[in-house]
Amino acid sequence: MSERYEADVVFSCGNDEFLPSVDVWLVIDVLRATTVMTRWFELGGTELYPVKTPDDARHLVRELQERGSSPLLMGEVNGLPPEGFDLGNSPVELTYELIREHYCGVMSTTNGTVALLEAASSGCPVIAASLRNTSACLDYALSIGRRIGIMCSGRKKRPSWEDTLCAGAVIDELNTRGELFMTDSAQIALLTWQNRTPELVPYVMKSTHAQYLEHIGFDEDIAFCCEHDVSTVVPMLTGDKKGHNILRSVAGSARPYPREVLPTPSAETEQPKPEKKPDPFEELLTYTKKPAQYFFIGKKDK
Ligand code: MLT
Repeated sequence: MSERYEADVVFSCGNDEFLPSVDVWLVIDVLRATTVMTRWFELGGTELYPVKTPDDARHLVRELQERGSSPLLMGEVNGLPPEGFDLGNSPVELTYELIREHYCGVMSTTNGTVALLEAASSGCPVIAASLRNTSACLDYALSIGRRIGIMCSGRKKRPSWEDTLCAGAVIDELNTRGELFMTDSAQIALLTWQNRTPELVPYVMKSTHAQYLEHIGFDEDIAFCCEHDVSTVVPMLTGDKKGHNILRSVAGSARPYPREVLPTPSAETEQPKPEKKPDPFEELLTYTKKPAQYFFIGKKDK
């Protein structure tokens, strides 16, 4: 008998709507928060604290610094880094070097981090998904349960084209795993994905947020955020004894390599074979499959 799954999609966060009962939440903000989160762990980051507002982020950075940590302060308001932030919310601005200096980050964005915390308040496991790690996130979610909730961050409490599209990509993949019951919103998301053009970028450019990002000069981000299923990292919400929500990668490895293309040995110049050095990120990223203990702040049940 084939497995039976359920999929439900919430099109946007922040509406204080009643969340359906699910086994696990996949939270999506393709442009650009969950893509940034995925990239953070691809490059070997170990912890990422999502918070609601820039002031919450500044406050948490001070608290972590007092504990001897040196977190990177990152995020956006209207797509640009707020006053005093180390970095904005551009996935292509993340580099190995930055991650090696910090490993830990604090992140606040308009919709993506808000959606993660909203899903966390349900008390269910929460995974940050993007087009980059669609299948890896679904595989891990299915190791937790069969009722898959997909929360699209949306944009300013309204549905967003690109998040709905990514939700459809997850459902399309889930549809290959067994018998699937889809709510109406899940069917709408699936249709959005099934009607996509062969090249994702022009299709994603229908999004008003993508057009805004292009307008303010982040067109490279859009192309990066459209790379589909190129990553195996699975950022999952865990916590600490102080009740902070912390994203950690619970599966996958720090691959693909950074975008800087490694020098390819040309025929004339015989490149010396670099001796195989242990990759410092491997041991950081080999997590057990068992989900970490969760501590959630916020209302346990709506
Ligand atoms: C969001 O939170 O909606 C996005 O991350 C905004 C952005 O990165 O431009």
